[in-house]
Amino acid sequence: MNETVTYYAQRAREYDRVYDLPPWQADLRRLEEQITRVFAGRRVFEPACGTGYWTRLIARSATEVYAIDVNETTLTIARSRHDTRANVRFEQRDAYVACHGAPSFDGGHAGFWISHVDRSRMATFLAAFHSYLMAGAIVFMMDERETEGRRRHVPTSRTDGAGNRYELRRLENGGEFEIIKNFYDETFFRERFEPYASDLVYEELEHFWTLRYRVREPIA
Ligand SMILES: C[S@@+](CC[C@H](N)C(=O)[O-])C[C@H]1O[C@@H](n2cnc3c(N)ncnc32)[C@H](O)[C@@H]1O
Repeated sequence: MNETVTYYAQRAREYDRVYDLPPWQADLRRLEEQITRVFAGRRVFEPACGTGYWTRLIARSATEVYAIDVNETTLTIARSRHDTRANVRFEQRDAYVACHGAPSFDGGHAGFWISHVDRSRMATFLAAFHSYLMAGAIVFMMDERETEGRRRHVPTSRTDGAGNRYELRRLENGGEFEIIKNFYDETFFRERFEPYASDLVYEELEHFWTLRYRVREPIA
């Protein structure tokens, strides 16, 4: 188990407080509105679903959501949300592992996850993620931007040879972790997602970036 996985396993019970941060509220309302609109009527695959904050919102308008996370502790919270709907299926699975069968989802979402993907495993994650998605599927992702305030608040602890940026996190139980937290710009997404994406739209909110695209036909 790597440090990011252990950190989120132990952070599960306090994770949702991040969604109460006052400076994030205006952006979060915009994301919530967009996510329910984008996935309306779709069958959505969601890796690294965590405590299911976004799963619950997607499920309001989607036909079905298949949400996975490597940590059983976060999944337990996700499953226990009182309004989790019958159209949601949670499963413990690794986001770096490809789908067993043929792609069957016409929507894909990854929230606050790309920043934690090890750069040396980005190609593996992208291949695994898209193995679940049919051509024409809509993808919507978002994560934190590196703002001036955030840089000051949470400094870089180190970088590694693969270009990963690390930062220190402390939990209420006193546990200290050094986890990967990478920040990306539009150029990165246009280059790395190009084999999979058409009609890619990158946007910046005050605290977050969003990415929306349609999955291309696979190149024969
Ligand atoms: C920052 S949280 C995001 C949770 C959720 N998507 C959200 O936006 O609230 C990152 C999540 O990734 C999960 N995770 C870490 N490594 C993973 C892996 N290899 N496969 C699947 N999930 C993983 C952690 O357990 C954690 O729940």
